[in-house]
Amino acid sequence: MTKDLLSIGDLTPNEIETLLSLAADLKEQQRKGIAHPLLAGKSLAMIFEKPSLRTRVTFEVGMSQLGGRAIYLVPADIRLGEREAVKDAAKNLERWVDGIMARTYSHQTLEELARHAAVPVINGLSDLTHPCQVLADLFTLREKCGHLQGLKVAYIGDGNNVCHSWLYAAAKTGIEFTVACPRGYEPHADVLTSARREAEASGGRIALSHDPRLAAEGADVLYTDVWTSMGQEAESAKRRRDFQGFQVDAALVRLAAPDVLVMHCLPAHRGEEITDEVLDGPHSVVYDEAENRLHLQKAILVTLLGSQGS
Ligand code: CP
Ligand code: NVA
Repeated sequence: MTKDLLSIGDLTPNEIETLLSLAADLKEQQRKGIAHPLLAGKSLAMIFEKPSLRTRVTFEVGMSQLGGRAIYLVPADIRLGEREAVKDAAKNLERWVDGIMARTYSHQTLEELARHAAVPVINGLSDLTHPCQVLADLFTLREKCGHLQGLKVAYIGDGNNVCHSWLYAAAKTGIEFTVACPRGYEPHADVLTSARREAEASGGRIALSHDPRLAAEGADVLYTDVWTSMGQEAESAKRRRDFQGFQVDAALVRLAAPDVLVMHCLPAHRGEEITDEVLDGPHSVVYDEAENRLHLQKAILVTLLGSQGS
């Protein structure tokens, strides 16, 4: 694997498969109470420019279960590129820690950190992608369905960071992936193009639609995310208007396969992109996704920070 994990676009299908298998092993060991201190004595710095519940807690608990430690740097502490240059932060941190996890506004900040730090940099969400989330989602789907190839996933909502990571992931794992978004909220054209190109090799299929009902028809998975991502709060009133008709509600679920799985990366804005009834309903696997962030990220940490990685 490359030194860093910045995007699923950088992983090969085999590398994805290896991460999913390792996550399954680590989950089993944790469940059986078997200690697995694979990162004893190692430290992870966690830089957050935006808030987090899942990413922060799962990386912190993950490092601790692996025998290492994580250091949480609050936005006000570090102020990348403002208090000091991104390059200087990278060149300091690499002297003390074995890896850096960062949640940034700009994806370029992550790339700059990765370029200047000798240690691995892991993307904990940028404005462009959210690879840890979607790898955990693939892991959840593989647990629930036994396979990924040929699954029909309908992503209903904003063509945002989570959607971009899904496009890369679907293209590499043979998933039939349809994005249904309002006009003007499509995923980036270059991500779509590269996903479409790569899907040809895996047998996957990438489609773009503006009709949520058409996308949901017969889907094995309905996936959604907030209409207003972190940093876009000033647009939230306009977005609420523009996304009318794109809510995952009981009527949409009825169009999907009878055993459809409903997924959401969380946090959810209940009553906007998804109803309480669906989020709390029998098809929802959102808390399994959240749990699996822990196991999948432990696999990433072991791969990048473990002796075979660094
Ligand atoms: N899904 C996710 O990344 O959650 P947080 O923003 O709480 O980390
Ligand atoms: N698209 C959301 C994902 C949060 C995990 C955001 O960027 O806020």
